[in-house]
Amino acid sequence: MGAFEVIIYEKRDGIGYVILNRPQALNAYNIRMRDELYEVLGAIRDDPEVEVVILKGAGEKAFCAGADLTEFLTAPSPVIARQARFERDVWGLFLSIAKPVIAALHGYVLGSGIEMALCCDIRLASEDARFGLPEPGLGIIPAAGGSQTLPRTIGRAAALEMLMSSRWITADEAYRLKLVNRVVSRAVLFKEAEKLAKKIRSHNRTAVSHAKQAVVRGLDLTLAEGLELEAQLGRRLIDAKG
Ligand code: COA
Repeated sequence: MGAFEVIIYEKRDGIGYVILNRPQALNAYNIRMRDELYEVLGAIRDDPEVEVVILKGAGEKAFCAGADLTEFLTAPSPVIARQARFERDVWGLFLSIAKPVIAALHGYVLGSGIEMALCCDIRLASEDARFGLPEPGLGIIPAAGGSQTLPRTIGRAAALEMLMSSRWITADEAYRLKLVNRVVSRAVLFKEAEKLAKKIRSHNRTAVSHAKQAVVRGLDLTLAEGLELEAQLGRRLIDAKG
């Protein structure tokens, strides 16, 4: 892997740590970050040494304050700036990872920040986390899957309110809406994410990966198809052991 400027990637004891690292710009998502994330996520997907992934933001103030507005402002229009998103399918790659991915969210979690978090399987937030989608105010819509992943997570009405009005919500409201699994104090956020990653890692990795596949793929199926998928994955596990 090449040298990274805006991402820190570390691997320790089976856990891959991905840290968005532009704290001076509240970890805003720019083209460089897109390219580095693409490289890191590809490596994670293919690296058997990585069993669980934790994603977090560097610095005190933010997980990620959304798309980099300076790139937006130098492009002919926000819509054209947004096209840069589609040149690499970071989000498809994110969602294709068959390993558990945990997001540790603090401070501002805006725009692409929420969307990145929604690509993760489990979201822990600290009490100071604030969630919002500023896109409509900029004349654009989410481009990292948010219009699809948010309603599938918090339901249609709550998602539409966030998407159309840009109203920000607190960590407690995010918990009530099931946008995050748990709210913890800032002091223990990362420790809790790591504790959870270690707990998951203590289980059979194929079983964990099959459980993720059953749930994630099953959500797009009918109940009957989902039950068939579960049975197939279960049989595959038994075959692998036998
Ligand atoms: N893109 C680029 N730079 C950003 C940024 C973004 N999305 N969000 C924050 N920054 C930069 C600021 O320009 C500032 O840089 P500077 O110190 O060189 O002036 C630095 O990060 C700190 O931000 P600041 O605005 O001073 O912090 P704050 O606590 O007063 O306000 C926010 C925080 C998140 C409310 C405010 O930064 C903001 O509204 N950001 C834009 C959010 C947004 O619309 N994102 C796009 C989603 S599509």
